[in-house]
Amino acid sequence: MTKFSPCFLLPLLFIFTQTSLITRSNPTFVQSVKLNPLKLKTEKLSHFRFFWHDKYSGPNPTAVNIIPPPITNKTNSNGFGTVSMIDDALTDKPEPGSKLLGRAQGFYGIASQEEIGLLMAMNFVFSTGKYNGSTITIMGRNSVFNKVREMPVIGGSGLFRFARGYVQASTHSFDIKTGDAVVEYNCYVLHY
Ligand SMILES: *[C@@H]1O[C@H](CO)[C@@H](O)[C@H](O)[C@H]1NC(C)=O
Ligand SMILES: *[C@@H]1O[C@H](CO)[C@@H](O)[C@H](O)[C@H]1NC(C)=O
Repeated sequence: MTKFSPCFLLPLLFIFTQTSLITRSNPTFVQSVKLNPLKLKTEKLSHFRFFWHDKYSGPNPTAVNIIPPPITNKTNSNGFGTVSMIDDALTDKPEPGSKLLGRAQGFYGIASQEEIGLLMAMNFVFSTGKYNGSTITIMGRNSVFNKVREMPVIGGSGLFRFARGYVQASTHSFDIKTGDAVVEYNCYVLHY
């Protein structure tokens, strides 16, 4: 009669235990899922154009410097490390006081040691018509002295669920004394 050594049986035991574990955690290999459970319509491309008002001056600033530039030899030349928090108005025209369409809420910081290159992270929160309450999220690099800067749209909520796209920002006016700026934003976004 053949005698099985325990050394031979142990690996088999191991395989059986592992298999049963896998079977228990993944009961089915494939399941059918309802088509379009979120009832998404056809994806479309929308182009929004508005003006972004970054206002440091006056009694009601919408942009505040929350982290001043650190004082080191290398960095005091261009403000590397500076961070501002914003709740800027988005309007249909460049003039202050023109029709409010929403707000840009978030922050930006000087992330480049060489030029003035910002990292921007902000949500466009719309307050007009059917877009009221829907948001678009922008996160990207902004070399503010370039004529046109492009930043990605990385997502959205409400009417902008699954949003992707890009914005092009171009400075309309900039006051070097106060830091106030008006920037035209052209936003191209794919959404449903
Ligand atoms: C700035 O540079 C000077 C001379 O180049 C040096 O003595 C000083 O320690 C430096 N300061 C800092 C904060 O690095
Ligand atoms: C936008 O939504 C808010 C909150 O639901 C509401 O208070 C406000 O009146 C709405 N504005 C417009 C213009 O529909």
